[in-house]
Amino acid sequence: MNLNFENPNFKIDLRGLAEVVDAPKAEASVKETLQSTWQSFLQKTRADDIGFFDWPETHSRSEVLAIQDRAKYLRANYEGAICIGIGGSYLGPYAVEQALRKFEDEDKFPIVWVSNADTRTVERARHLALRKKVAMTVISKSGNTVETLAAFFSLFRLVNPDGLTIITDPNSGELRRLADENAWTSFAVPPNVGGRFSVLTPVGLFPLALAGIDIDALMGGATQTRSWLLGNTKEPNAAATLAYWLWRWDSEKRCSVQYLMPYHSALHRIGDWYVQLFAESLGKKQIGTKISVGPNPAPALGTSDQHSLLQLFKEGPKARVIGFIDCLEWEKLKIETPSFKSPKFAYLSGRTLTELNHYSLVATRESLALSDVPTYTLELKGVDALRLGSLLFFLEATCGVAGEFYRVNAYDQPGVEEAKILLAKALTKAT
Ligand code: PA5
Repeated sequence: MNLNFENPNFKIDLRGLAEVVDAPKAEASVKETLQSTWQSFLQKTRADDIGFFDWPETHSRSEVLAIQDRAKYLRANYEGAICIGIGGSYLGPYAVEQALRKFEDEDKFPIVWVSNADTRTVERARHLALRKKVAMTVISKSGNTVETLAAFFSLFRLVNPDGLTIITDPNSGELRRLADENAWTSFAVPPNVGGRFSVLTPVGLFPLALAGIDIDALMGGATQTRSWLLGNTKEPNAAATLAYWLWRWDSEKRCSVQYLMPYHSALHRIGDWYVQLFAESLGKKQIGTKISVGPNPAPALGTSDQHSLLQLFKEGPKARVIGFIDCLEWEKLKIETPSFKSPKFAYLSGRTLTELNHYSLVATRESLALSDVPTYTLELKGVDALRLGSLLFFLEATCGVAGEFYRVNAYDQPGVEEAKILLAKALTKAT
């Protein structure tokens, strides 16, 4: 069974997941399961209400151009921006922004995210608005999220409505009503793409264009991965295979804590995005039953967490899967030879920081394998918009197929909705 995959933008090595499972099921039957589960996933995505998988094909080019025009206008006429959103309306765009934004651009056009309606976060945005002429973007698929509206209401008076951009449902919700009533510029979140799957829709594309990021390349990467996944119908593909092994480790071996651990700070926040995607999609009752299922996704960062979590990964209870992201060849920053002598560490001189991180990952993976800790590796040759678009889309598809293995509806979030309703009730009562 193939456990090594390669697409134009990254490699996927799943050998550390499959080899340590005791008594693996007969290969033919696993293959059959993978193929049929992938087909049921695809069938689901053909339903009108699940649009994320076809989005790279179905999105409108003219909308992308309109987003780029608007971002260009704001970057030319304003000195920075405040972006407000939470959950799926924040984690994806923020993760990509953190990965790709050029330092010079951060100085030129600072962007402050308000992703939590607390005093410190709102004060940070206010601080920027009092010093600079800022644009404001408010993102909420439902248009009714209390925290987002609270931050928007708190900051609205500090900005000129000309610089306001609303990203929300095309037809419903309070933000849509306000945008239409006040003729504020707005872009639509496709109703059939759920919040945590929406980073490649205007939810992510607009703030990322505002941050000077190449959104054409981001979409290009997603399109390539979609075609790649659909291309080979004879063998199980990488998304179905990864989803299968993660599910088996959780459901059969109680390895439900499933880390994603990039070995580069640029990808740090991809871990937070991954956590929301997998937790909110898979942690729920199985369809038509009262049985609760779902992995516990978790973020980590290499090498920082080698000096914190690794001890637990290696010698703690066997409850975890570690997914590494290796970043190769994307920067050539060399460790300089200092003007003083340090013979013990002479081996550092002339190596790149990329090498240091890569070999740290290899050593950690080897050490975990010695303790039978399951691991897998996503290997990126560089960090750019094309590769990130490709990786994000791959993880979205993997999550969708995992929903089939878990037998859950991966596209709703009744737990989150219930808390939203209770919050609104509590606030109404308190007035
Ligand atoms: O994935 C989801 O649906 C949620 O996490 C939402 O993204 C989050 O609750 C924010 O909702 P909204 O975009 O409607 O403000």
